[in-house]
Amino acid sequence: MPTLGALHAGHRALLGRARRENRLVVASIFVNPLQFGPGEDLARYPRDLEADVLVCAAEGVDVVFAPPDAEMWPRPPVVRVTAGRLGELLEGERRPGHLDGVATVVAKLLHLVGPCRAYFGRKDAQQLALVRRMVADLGFDAEVVACPTVREPDGLALSSRNAYLAPRARAAAPALHAALAAAEAAWREGEDDPAALEGMTAARLAREPLIELEYARLVDAGTFERVARAAAGQVLALAARLEGARLIDNVVLGSDDAGGSPVTTG
Ligand code: PAJ
Repeated sequence: MPTLGALHAGHRALLGRARRENRLVVASIFVNPLQFGPGEDLARYPRDLEADVLVCAAEGVDVVFAPPDAEMWPRPPVVRVTAGRLGELLEGERRPGHLDGVATVVAKLLHLVGPCRAYFGRKDAQQLALVRRMVADLGFDAEVVACPTVREPDGLALSSRNAYLAPRARAAAPALHAALAAAEAAWREGEDDPAALEGMTAARLAREPLIELEYARLVDAGTFERVARAAAGQVLALAARLEGARLIDNVVLGSDDAGGSPVTTG
């Protein structure tokens, strides 16, 4: 299971599942500079290797791979993986090169670890789609396992970046999930116009002065292209800024955990 560290209960759910489903569990902890753009939070990204190793031990991880930058990238890689169209849409539009950086590091990590099951969270839905597609397109010997988003009791998706939220922003942040859940509920009640569902999400968030929505878009879960009509399995994804923090979240239409109740807390 690849991670950037600063492990929280979301990571722990994936590690615990990996533990239950496999004989040997390897976790990587590496803040990958390739996936951070200029002006992003690479320098201030939370790092606490000692605490992370304790979390891994508590979850029964067998091997922690936490290379220094110079071990992972002894020189800047010349040959890289590009995410193609998947790297240009939504997150790719806002964070040029980000998904290429993710694909490149995940490719290297999968090669280093060998044939495996690889655990990814649905919180980062576009990353999940990208990794699935890379594994299929390039014949990696990996089975990608998608895991549900772990949320706080108030709905906020767990993220290492939640640490950036000042109390006011933290208080506003549950509106992200509330807006997605309300749109998903409207879909269940028959609204199948993507623009209406996106508009409803944006309108809910427009009531929050601290939240600056970057996008709310209904997309195909595999390609991340816009859809003509809303249907089960599609992803309603959003990104927003809350003062200094940039958060993403999504719901899958028709999924069990799309509604208001938290999947897990901790
Ligand atoms: P990171 O943000 O540390 O996340 C590691 C894994 O944990 C990802 O698969 C992510 O989707 C999952 N995860 C994070 N928060 C979650 C939550 N609240 N519920 C469920 N799963 C959650 O994503 C990355 O690191 C990096 O891009 C990486 C894949 C390690 C490549 O550098």
